[in-house]
Amino acid sequence: MKKITAFIKPFKLYDVRKALESINVQGMSVTESRGYGRQKGQSETYRGEEYDIAFLTKLKIEIATTNELCDKIVETIMKAARTGQIGDGKILVSDLDNVYRIRTGENGIDAVAEFL
Ligand SMILES: Nc1ncnc2c1ncn2[C@@H]1O[C@H](COP(=O)(O)OP(=O)(O)OP(=O)(O)O)[C@@H](O)[C@H]1O
Ligand SMILES: [Mg+2]
Repeated sequence: MKKITAFIKPFKLYDVRKALESINVQGMSVTESRGYGRQKGQSETYRGEEYDIAFLTKLKIEIATTNELCDKIVETIMKAARTGQIGDGKILVSDLDNVYRIRTGENGIDAVAEFL
C-alpha cells in the first residue's frame, strides 16, 4: 500500500476533490498546512531583495491507497492542482505498512479500498 501526501493551493481543493471522486477515490484527509518550498515562501507574495522565510498556507491532502492505484491518483492530483505558477505544491509518496478500519476490524487492502 502507498500513502500519498499532497500539498496544494487551497483554492484548488474543489477541483482536486472532484477529479479524485471521478476516479473513485474513497477517502482522504485534508488539513491546513503551513510551509515553504524553493522560493522560501517569498516570490509568491512579493519580489525584492532579501527576506526571511515566510510560511504560506497550503492544504495537505492525505490518501491511503493500493500500489496499483497510486500512479493514477498522483497524475490526477497533478493535473487538477496545476496552475503552472510557482507554489503549485508537492506530492510525496511513501510505503504504507497497514490500515485498520475500526468498525469492522479489517486491515490491509480490505480496509483501504473496496473493489467493485
Ligand atoms: N522538501 C519539502 N519537504 C516537505 N514539504 C515541502 C517540501 N517542499 C515543499 N513542501 C511543502 O509544499 C508546499 C508547496 O511548496 P512549493 O509548491 O512552493 O514547492 P517548490 O519546490 O518551491 O515548487 P515551485 O517551484 O513550483 O514553487 C510548501 O508550502 C510545503 O508545505
Ligand atoms: Mg515554491
